[in-house]
Amino acid sequence: MTPDEKKKAAAETALAYVESGWVVGVGTGSTANHFIDALARVKGRIDGAVASSNATAERLKKHGIPVLELNSTGDLPLYVDGADEATRHLHLIKGGGGALTREKIVAAASAKFVCIADDSKLVDVLGKFPLPIEIIPMARSLVARQLTARGGQPVLREKFITDNGNLILDVHNLSILNPVELERELNQLAGVVTVGLFAVRPADVLILGGDEGVETLP
Ligand code: A5P
Repeated sequence: MTPDEKKKAAAETALAYVESGWVVGVGTGSTANHFIDALARVKGRIDGAVASSNATAERLKKHGIPVLELNSTGDLPLYVDGADEATRHLHLIKGGGGALTREKIVAAASAKFVCIADDSKLVDVLGKFPLPIEIIPMARSLVARQLTARGGQPVLREKFITDNGNLILDVHNLSILNPVELERELNQLAGVVTVGLFAVRPADVLILGGDEGVETLP
């Protein structure tokens, strides 16, 4: 199976979590795109979707799925999204696509967060994938210095502006042994908008596509 087939298998499995009459939170990236394509098959049964990025909103609209604003929907029953890394504790690194802030908002508003990924994303310790951090532009060097002092190697994502008009620092060389603590600590730095660690609010379910089929954790 190719990685893309594994992503698609995980996304198709997540469709079973969708119930009639729901507004569904939808993430960003190639795995989430497979979920959007699957969701289109049941679009007559759902009330619509809340998008975690402009790209996702566009794809939803192309399929004729109504895109709603989180401010008007209130809390959501379900959020489905991919990840860049995941552990068996369902702690995640996200933000490879740069949509981490809206993803964290939609995750926070959702009763259940179902993460979908191919099995290459499963790791014992987070941090091999550079940790994305969205920052206010004027704080770029300040935050970079503080990350360097913590042993990380921040690299500015070139020619990239988030949907919120901010920058992304991708932080290399972090071995994240305590993701909850690190997420809380980095969230406190002035100028940090969002840390791409999803550990304080982890996923509730992790669906991994692999050669032997789909594994659902926990
Ligand atoms: C988007 O900002 C990320 O959080 C994505 O969820 C992540 O990059 C996963 O992307 P793929 O599904 O394309 O691997």
